[in-house]
Amino acid sequence: MRDQPPFRLGILGSGQGSNFVALAEACARGSIPAQIALVLSDVPDSGILARARERQLPARYLPPGKFRTKLEPEAELAYAQALREAQVDLVALAGFMRVLKGEFLHAFEGRIINIHPSLLPSFPGLEAWKQALAHGVKVTGCTVHFVNAGVDAGPIIGQQAVSVLEDDTPETLHQRIHAAEHDLYPKCVAALARGEIRVEGRLVRWTAPAFPLSGATSKAQ
Ligand code: GAR
Repeated sequence: MRDQPPFRLGILGSGQGSNFVALAEACARGSIPAQIALVLSDVPDSGILARARERQLPARYLPPGKFRTKLEPEAELAYAQALREAQVDLVALAGFMRVLKGEFLHAFEGRIINIHPSLLPSFPGLEAWKQALAHGVKVTGCTVHFVNAGVDAGPIIGQQAVSVLEDDTPETLHQRIHAAEHDLYPKCVAALARGEIRVEGRLVRWTAPAFPLSGATSKAQ
């Protein structure tokens, strides 16, 4: 029997790259059956590019153009072209701080996912952990979701809850959310790479027995 070609991941990030590291380590130890084909960043000296290069993975800075919160249309085409050339099966956003628009979404329809530091639909947008603290919620967390034309609005693949503590600062809360992200994101990407995720409109079904992605207590317990 011929082996399947490996599932290829493209990763986009703007920051320190800790979620990228979690994904790269899970690929390296085989818990995600995939290889990282390309890492792209809109920030030339970002941690994510440094972390990728340390691991000898293909990593490129692509200029975003003149806008602050989105890619210029030409830049968006360049990102899409680079990912197409790298033959990626899935684009995983890992702290990519720009909204992706029409052409890009069209090129990778249904194949772009994101991790967000709150339990969506609560607190979309920037610095979600600060929004959670300011709102006074007692539980927040992180969400992995498909990317659509809305902001942090696509079908939800998985979530992990994090308690908010009385003495939390933005930093301590974000730190614990980060730790939850590093657990959740590889599990979701692994399920996608194994073809264990089915999307029915807004709803995402896990077709293989999954771990309790919501952190909720199951009826059987
Ligand atoms: C993560 O907390 C991620 O959820 C967030 O940026 C951080 C990146 O950290 N993304 C967003 O807020 C997107 N709306 P990392 O660079 O260490 O992975």
